[in-house]
Amino acid sequence: MSANIVLGVTGGIAAYKSLQVASSLTKLNHNVYTIMTESAAEFINPITFHSLTHLPVESELFSTTTSEVKHIGLADKADLFLIAPATANFIAKAAAGIADDLLTTVILATEAPIMIAPSMNVHMFENPVVQRNMKTLEDLGYKIITPEAGYLACGYTGKGRLPAPERLVEEVRKELFKKDLKNKKILITAGPTRESIDPVRFLTNHSSGKMGYALAQAAAYRGAEVKLISGPTELAAPLGVELSRVETAAEMKKAVFQEAETADIIIMAAAVADYCPQEYSAQKLKKGNGNLKLELERTTDILAELGEKKNKSQLLIGFAAESENLLENAQAKLRKKRADYIIANDISNKNIAFGSDKNQVTILSEEGSTKLPLLEKEKLAHKIFDYITDAERK
Ligand code: CTP
Repeated sequence: MSANIVLGVTGGIAAYKSLQVASSLTKLNHNVYTIMTESAAEFINPITFHSLTHLPVESELFSTTTSEVKHIGLADKADLFLIAPATANFIAKAAAGIADDLLTTVILATEAPIMIAPSMNVHMFENPVVQRNMKTLEDLGYKIITPEAGYLACGYTGKGRLPAPERLVEEVRKELFKKDLKNKKILITAGPTRESIDPVRFLTNHSSGKMGYALAQAAAYRGAEVKLISGPTELAAPLGVELSRVETAAEMKKAVFQEAETADIIIMAAAVADYCPQEYSAQKLKKGNGNLKLELERTTDILAELGEKKNKSQLLIGFAAESENLLENAQAKLRKKRADYIIANDISNKNIAFGSDKNQVTILSEEGSTKLPLLEKEKLAHKIFDYITDAERK
């Protein structure tokens, strides 16, 4: 999805971070129109924003070279406004409805959501006048991205630092998504489990966790309250998601059942070990001359147990990793585990090997099966939610 984003830049030292924001949003296919205040242009040359976004950078309210009423054009075109950095002066003017330059005028004229990322000295930020102005804006529906604490360019350490560009970009992306999962509690599991044999060895599998994390991120962007229970992975917690890390299948089971009852949707994307060592050796196992036999015992099938206990309104979604007879095996899992949906993927397909950033799945339910295209896991996660929310509406 490509959106028209108006990036408002006001005169703070953190304006340099907005260059990265403009560049990243452009790379994500969005049209970034920059509006700079007069003092922002003291810090950054408008040409730099133009070079990164390939779109006009405006700061003058009036023009004699175009017949378009500039502030109305930008206000109507915008899907979203991000003001970063926002100075105390800008915040005060916005809160009071003063329109004395292009940026303050455009934000009065728009109906698009407006996000404001304040950045200033810690004492300025904590000043009751600034706090009051921010509260006014928040009450009016503006979204304030709270500054981070840390070293400030003025020499102080405290709250007032503009968040990293990556976080600002994530906040924008989150805001752009439709909120069709609002008020839903979603429990998602992801990653492999790890079953220890002794203090140095364990049994695990190739799951990277990427699909489950992408689902968690997509659900959070769409307004859900998301709990992610993850086995060991290298991945960072998705934005706005409550993450608990576990190791073993038994720990995953315990964590899942603590949350399962109140969840509206449960998605078991984790590759849970089916077997664990019958006995854990507290001491490192020493090698002998012959072969080693390891006795393994079954773990609980969490999805199947959820299927037995689930209430009528809860949606239960499982995955099926298959190397052969994809549809038959996935259909059997759907029935056996009493899931509402099984998302099946063919692990013999070389394009979607374990750890890949892409995936291709078929969604099965009692109604039949639908094959989704090969997509980046992030996009696929949204397609999966599109499909399921559509199907549930019918
Ligand atoms: N699953 C689970 N608990 C287990 C094993 C699997 O909850 N102990 C869940 C997975 O999270 C997934 C679904 O069951 O949603 C199917 O997992 P998969 O590994 O494809 O199938 P298995 O049931 O383990 O069957 P098999 O290994 O025979 O293919």
